[in-house]
Amino acid sequence: MGLNTILYEKHDGVAFVTLNRPKSLNALCEELIGELGEVFQDIDKDRDTAAVIITGGPKAFAAGADIREIIQIGSPLSAHQFVTRIRAVFDRIEACSKPVIAAVAGYALGGGCELALACDIRIAADNALFGLPEIKLGLIPGGGGTQRLPRLIGPGRARELLFTGDSIDAQESYRIGLVNKIVSLDSLMGEAGKMAAKLVKLPAVALKMNKLAVNDGMNMDLNSALTHEARCFEILFSTEDQKEGVKAFIEKREPNFKGF
Ligand code: CAA
Repeated sequence: MGLNTILYEKHDGVAFVTLNRPKSLNALCEELIGELGEVFQDIDKDRDTAAVIITGGPKAFAAGADIREIIQIGSPLSAHQFVTRIRAVFDRIEACSKPVIAAVAGYALGGGCELALACDIRIAADNALFGLPEIKLGLIPGGGGTQRLPRLIGPGRARELLFTGDSIDAQESYRIGLVNKIVSLDSLMGEAGKMAAKLVKLPAVALKMNKLAVNDGMNMDLNSALTHEARCFEILFSTEDQKEGVKAFIEKREPNFKGF
């Protein structure tokens, strides 16, 4: 895989995806979006990867879609193609069969904020700044911001952020539930790594079913979602890890999960 805008490494069951266009604050250009899609295709099929960390640099996670490309869009049809590409990749990240942690330092604006919203868990450095400033460009978010943000933090607070385009700092993002945790900039990758290492040790299929139950269930009525949860629960009885987990508890020992 030839990558120009992303660094992609794997260590001890964790895939590290680093957005790497520091000169433009990791603006999400077409090439970067394409490479992100390729990387997640690989992650999904890689049996040795059990968790993912997406990060950027110390100054920017990502400052949004590339405005130099947006200015080239000349018709609703090209706008459709533009947002469809972004959507396909963010949807793929959200639906990734492994848990995805966003480790966010600096700017997470527009498409950068939306990328973080497509992840399962957000850890913010104390210098992180989140916002959806598209309104200031005469736009609205096109990478899921109008849908994923209200589902995460509630429609009232989401409307304020969407309508004003104002950014909020790490403390405020934590207070309203946009991020799971705030850490110092120096310890960001260490803390994200610790969280990923914890997830890597857990039974992979149960993690996957947990994610499926939450993500699908959020878009269903309660009764259908509870039925969906029951199906996800039942499937786990076909895994060795389920038997091992319960047996280990009864035998008062640590479980030895195998990932199937
Ligand atoms: N697209 C393209 N280039 C960008 C960019 C973006 N989203 N954000 C920053 N850059 C570039 C700047 O043009 C600049 O490049 P040059 O050095 O070549 O001039 C470089 O990154 C550094 O940026 P600044 O000089 O502006 O840095 P700053 O520290 O003064 O300001 C900032 C930082 C507040 C993040 C400011 O860059 C900014 O407001 N960026 C745009 C944020 C934005 O509006 N994002 C939403 C984009 S639209 C979108 O995302 C649509 C969608 O939903 C998919």
